[in-house]
Amino acid sequence: TERAPKPKLTLILASPRGFCAGVDRAIQIVETAIEKFGPPVYVRHEIVHNRFVVETLERKGAIFVEELDEVPEGARVIFSAHGVPKSVPEAAKARELIYFDATCPLVSKVHVEAERHHERGLDIILIGHSGHPEVIGTMGQLPEGAVCLVETVADAETFEPRDPAKLAFVTQTTLSIDDTAEIVAVLRRRFPRIVGPHKEDICYATTNRQEAVKAIAPRADAVIVIGAPNSSNSMRLVEVAERAGCSKSMLVQRAVDIDWAALGHPRTVGLTAGASAPDVLVDEVIAAFREHFDVTVEDVEAARESVQFKLPRALAG
Ligand code: F3S
Repeated sequence: TERAPKPKLTLILASPRGFCAGVDRAIQIVETAIEKFGPPVYVRHEIVHNRFVVETLERKGAIFVEELDEVPEGARVIFSAHGVPKSVPEAAKARELIYFDATCPLVSKVHVEAERHHERGLDIILIGHSGHPEVIGTMGQLPEGAVCLVETVADAETFEPRDPAKLAFVTQTTLSIDDTAEIVAVLRRRFPRIVGPHKEDICYATTNRQEAVKAIAPRADAVIVIGAPNSSNSMRLVEVAERAGCSKSMLVQRAVDIDWAALGHPRTVGLTAGASAPDVLVDEVIAAFREHFDVTVEDVEAARESVQFKLPRALAG
């Protein structure tokens, strides 16, 4: 018996997608520390929000912990790309741990901004998602009460500052560009003297991945985003695809997570990956599509990226 020919499908790859320079650097920091000092090297919190990356590093000799008290005396520990409150390096010093900071330089930049505002006597609004490690890290740069979290337009409408003339704002780096613009507009309308970045602190990688998804979503019957549910930038890609006109926008961690029945009979599927999802997972998903369909791959490039960050000096060279 002959097998029925596979249905034809165009798979549109959003470009850029996947790893950003901050994630790439964070992973290199863990790998280099293991090579240089030998295993084990401890990592506080998932280095980046991706199970596959974490498990790959575990096999190489990384041990992931939630808090520093799980790290034995004298061991080496790495802080994740999302950044940490000031109390964390302080506690590491007090315990005489040797630490390396894998905080993305673009997150550190926001920390410095917040500190500068604080030194000028301004109260700071942080636009971000409650509970995300980056938000905990940024709020933890300054004393309790110096930074207030605003998550939504409604929060921005009701926020009551101590002094509206002494206000500044900073943002999480992985937010929705469009939602954040709305929140910033409310703050600027209510507090005309508020000090802040030109637009927000959303990083180049978040911006470009959202732009690329906007470019492919209107043409796609479905959009697949490879990423983890706790990855802020990946979740935002799912929302951006929906708002750009694609009613079926799905987050998957691996190819096995694809719900083929829910996908129906698409002619065109868009594919992207969050900043913490490695290329091998994109290849895995493309291979899975080839099993179900006669696939033509098309790349849609919304931006070119050439950003690279140096390793900390103690690990470089
Ligand atoms: Fe940094 Fe943006 Fe990636 S803040 S870790 S470059 S998503």
